[in-house]
Amino acid sequence: MMNEAQVREALGKVIDPALGQDIVTFRVLRGVELSGDDVLVKLDIPTHAYPKPQLRELQLRIEAALKPLGAKRVTVVSDVVTAYQPAPSDKAMLKGARNVIAVAAGKGGVGKSTVAVNLALALVRHGARVGLLDADVFGPSIPTMLGTPETPPSASADSKIIPALHHGMKVISVGFFVDKQEAVVWRGPMVHRLLQQFLGDVEWGELDYLICDLPPGTGDVQLSLSQLIPIAGAVMVTTPQEVSIVDVVKGIAMFEKVEIPILGIVENMSYYKC
Ligand SMILES: Nc1ncnc2c1ncn2[C@@H]1O[C@H](COP(=O)(O)OP(=O)(O)OP(=O)(O)O)[C@@H](O)[C@H]1O
Ligand SMILES: [Mg+2]
Repeated sequence: MMNEAQVREALGKVIDPALGQDIVTFRVLRGVELSGDDVLVKLDIPTHAYPKPQLRELQLRIEAALKPLGAKRVTVVSDVVTAYQPAPSDKAMLKGARNVIAVAAGKGGVGKSTVAVNLALALVRHGARVGLLDADVFGPSIPTMLGTPETPPSASADSKIIPALHHGMKVISVGFFVDKQEAVVWRGPMVHRLLQQFLGDVEWGELDYLICDLPPGTGDVQLSLSQLIPIAGAVMVTTPQEVSIVDVVKGIAMFEKVEIPILGIVENMSYYKC
């Protein structure tokens, strides 16, 4: 009769079709339970965006790996547990957010806010718990883009900020609290303090992703954010024009300097459809 060690060894050879790595190394395998010839395999799927057909394929691979050991019935159950790197303690200000993703660009007007909103909404649609932080304190456009919230922001009994709710995601923007004219003249230390508040004094709760919409360029906001919280990665937005690409290269260099990985580059407004 098979034992747990044999089952685990066999599962260690199962390659996850979506991740291209075995399920033990990638910690997709949470546990196994044996009862006679029946095996229960518990998986932690690392992302809500995991493709369904590949999940089915993974189940088939697991069954195929266990049948030679004499397993009669193989049951695979899975939960989505968003993967993340635990934060170093000096950057633990934002405890509940697993992955902070910055959306940035060298230039203004290339579509950062549009990409940030759509990325956040796509993650919500996959079933993830998502927050959207409008870190563009100089020109907040998230409130305009999202329209009237389902629930406006408010204050809790212990003076914390409760974010607005839009389409099932938690949203915070300086645009909710002050008018644009005021925000434009803010200097570095004030920006830093405001971001500190938006991270530490907002009841974000448990989030799989916090998407941050940044102002253009490589200024105070970018620097403050990278100092205050661990950023899992940055998505750069550019348009096909050379002037925009030159600036995005500068932006990438800045993120590399502060050791934030670039997750990808979105070339927005690539062509026109009339
Ligand atoms: N792919 C697209 N097709 C058509 N219009 C777009 C597209 N992407 C963005 N826009 C429009 O272009 C304008 C600028 O986009 P957006 O505000 O997202 O850019 P931004 O980089 O965040 O700008 P800012 O630097 O001012 O923050 C908006 O009016 C937006 O609706
Ligand atoms: Mg913007």
